[in-house]
Amino acid sequence: MSKTVAEVRAEFPEISDEFVYFDNSATTFKPLSVIEAVDDYYRKHNSNVHRGIYDLSVRVTELYEGARKIIKDFVGADDSYEVIFTRNTTEAINVVAQGLELNQDDEVIVSDREHHSNLLPWNKNGTIIKNFIPNENLDDLQSKLNERVKVISTTAWSNILGKVTNLQEILELAKQSEKITLVDAAQWVINEKVSMKNIDFLAFSGHKMYAPMGIGALVARRELLKMMKPVFYGGDMVEYVHSADDFALADIPHRFEAGTPNIGGVVGLTAAINWIKENGYFTDEKHELYRYAREQMRSIPHVNLLPGDDIICLTVEDVHPHDVAQCLNNDHIFVRSGYHCAQPILEKLGCGPVTRVSLACYNTHEEIDRFLTSLKNVRQKMGIANV
Ligand code: ALA
Repeated sequence: MSKTVAEVRAEFPEISDEFVYFDNSATTFKPLSVIEAVDDYYRKHNSNVHRGIYDLSVRVTELYEGARKIIKDFVGADDSYEVIFTRNTTEAINVVAQGLELNQDDEVIVSDREHHSNLLPWNKNGTIIKNFIPNENLDDLQSKLNERVKVISTTAWSNILGKVTNLQEILELAKQSEKITLVDAAQWVINEKVSMKNIDFLAFSGHKMYAPMGIGALVARRELLKMMKPVFYGGDMVEYVHSADDFALADIPHRFEAGTPNIGGVVGLTAAINWIKENGYFTDEKHELYRYAREQMRSIPHVNLLPGDDIICLTVEDVHPHDVAQCLNNDHIFVRSGYHCAQPILEKLGCGPVTRVSLACYNTHEEIDRFLTSLKNVRQKMGIANV
């Protein structure tokens, strides 16, 4: 039987009725099971991987290597994929963008709603970057396809507009056209079960799915990894080294993980995946909260909503989004304001910075009501008449 929201909230030590946390797209809180798993690692199992032949190191190596399989199961990746641990989504996309060694004869197509982390990494060696609008019939993407296009890279779930509902159609078109596909899953992995269908590279961060900061993963097709150059060089990614220019790379995936990895982070990520497996994604519950909040907000004068699914970006007329966030903060409601590292889409929509509400499994109807009450008073608090 699924847990009540009160039971879920009780598992997150940072949750409190003293405040409302609505900035889950930036990072989520961590359940006790994740905190305890990381604590347990540092208290009882701390040692380095791949280096020692002593018991502790061997056990930790097994834990670390075993996590790759857990991640593959979590995203539904078969044995044609490998998992590379990274610091976060941004690093994972950089590993691909630099590793593929694209040049000025190549083109990369990204959607019009990308986070900066799925835009700037492609800007290398003169590679041309084009945007497509993921509209229903995909004619915009179709019109941009040509033989110079090597990669189609898209978010599955924009941190401004929410879910990309025709993701699978985009990926199918990309694959029919024999392009490499990358999906930025930073906001996806926490919201619904991921599928690797038609995806060559999937990038995500742990901290947005209840795991610790500083750990993320790239799930990648082995055949493509074989063609890629590592971005980082150093210890643990080589078979032998005779000199700086006489060395042999280690096997995949290890050649893509130079230096001591974030083992505690991997332990925490595994615990977070276990938490999601046990408790689910709360997709319907969050969807209902967003629906309710949007419906109520439509009747608040001077509040404008951006379109989108399962995320809310808003503006309040004549009030800067930072002031909106500050007014909400004064009522102990925590939201993010600004460009959300996705300035191009906000500029395209002609709205500049916005205030954003992003929910997780522990948010409630009561919290939405507290937010709505506070939002209604923003203009008055700023000394602007609410006429
Ligand atoms: N990408 C994160 C956000 O949307 C940081 O807030």
